[in-house]
Amino acid sequence: KVYTDYFYNSEDFDKNHEMGYKDLHIPEGVEAQPLVVPPVLEPDKQENNDVWYTIESQEGDFQFLPGKKTHTWGYNFPVLGKTMVLTRGQHVHVTLKNSLPELTTYHWHGMELSGPGNDGACHSPVYPGEEKHIDFIVKQPAALTWLHAHPCPSTAMQVWMGLAMGVVITDANEAKLPIPKTYGKDEFPIILQDRIFHEDNQFDYKADYNAMGIFGDTPIINGVVRPYVDVTTQKVRLLFLGGSNRREWRLHFSDDLVMTQIAGDDSFLEHPVKLTKVLIGPGERQQVVVDFSNYKDGDVVNLYTDDFKLVEFRIHSYEKDDSVIPDTLFKPYDPVVNPNSPVPHVTMDNHNMINGKLFSMERIDMKQELMNAEYWDVTNTNDKVNGMLHPFHTHGAHFLVVSRNGKDPYPNERGVYKDTIEVAPQETVRIKVYFQNTGVFMYHCHIIEHEDAGMMAQIQIVDPKHPDKKYHLMDMETL
Ligand code: C2O
Ligand code: CU
Ligand code: CU
Repeated sequence: KVYTDYFYNSEDFDKNHEMGYKDLHIPEGVEAQPLVVPPVLEPDKQENNDVWYTIESQEGDFQFLPGKKTHTWGYNFPVLGKTMVLTRGQHVHVTLKNSLPELTTYHWHGMELSGPGNDGACHSPVYPGEEKHIDFIVKQPAALTWLHAHPCPSTAMQVWMGLAMGVVITDANEAKLPIPKTYGKDEFPIILQDRIFHEDNQFDYKADYNAMGIFGDTPIINGVVRPYVDVTTQKVRLLFLGGSNRREWRLHFSDDLVMTQIAGDDSFLEHPVKLTKVLIGPGERQQVVVDFSNYKDGDVVNLYTDDFKLVEFRIHSYEKDDSVIPDTLFKPYDPVVNPNSPVPHVTMDNHNMINGKLFSMERIDMKQELMNAEYWDVTNTNDKVNGMLHPFHTHGAHFLVVSRNGKDPYPNERGVYKDTIEVAPQETVRIKVYFQNTGVFMYHCHIIEHEDAGMMAQIQIVDPKHPDKKYHLMDMETL
């Protein structure tokens, strides 16, 4: 079976110009350029199972458009960063260095780390000119996760300036699967973003600010405005990352070329799903394999969002590849929920509130026991007419999608670890959430302007063996 829709209701899509929607365009004079594949970040040192890295937030200048370079921020790079490749089980030591003119934080979106220190959200500032060391063990399966700045309340501005990079986790299961996995040859991260360029090609976050969330009018794919990829293998694996502050990406190929979705946010899918369209919300990741075997040398296949061409795949001749994607890719751990566990109800409301409240760094909104799975019901209370999709995200844990308004979840969200899901107006999504680390973690809408404006809350994960553990929560004034 091949699914041919985005699953969500098209009336709920971002299309409303009154709410800030902007059409995409390619600025004049921009030629097609090869897609940049972010190079793999080299460790400082490696000894057996231990590996050491330095991640430096820095200022830079980057050539997006002809003419003047754009002033940007990035990780060890002018904009975005390199790709960090970690292996399950590895003990990772990271020096987080801040060479920016203001404080920042380093949040590992999709990684299951203790919080708030390692998780790196609002309570873990690194001040300008300073550095901080963290270390953790990678305790999760193969996936594309990502690192981005998360200082409250200027996450959106810092991400807009460029502070985001891919963190790929590999494991023994992935190594066995007959799927494309040669990074940069048949496996490409595709970081989907949009930006607005002002005079002299500069960003101006303040001028563009919109409490509804900022749309850019220019696509930026791995930092390239108009990319093409020279395809040298028959099958290509694309690791899509929704890296926009606001925009949902509604992807499809020319000729309705079928994609085989093999992974979601934090794991492979239990069973691959064939589809011709895939929607990627802010913060989400989806991995697909496309098979170009019906094309010949010289053909071009385009990737679109709606009817806008994002990436050109230029087909070259290649060896035949008869490998078949297996029917089972991954066995998710599906914990049993104790019937006595509470079922918290989280609502994403108008005026950027969660459960009727704006975010406070000093307030714990929920508690959950370590290693104890719970159902959460997550509702988008926006009305049907003026509402929008809100991407719900939790730090520090993955979850399984149990149901949408009481019905089965979408085919590409079954049997997969997720950390970000779109929730439509008047929809309630039941998820099964499981934390394997203690700490204080945020959960929020991943439209980053909504999050900064208050659509965020905090959960404390309690170890029953040490129930009185206290956390030092910072507040915005003393940051
Ligand atoms: Cu991408 Cu609070 O996270
Ligand atoms: Cu996160
Ligand atoms: Cu929102």
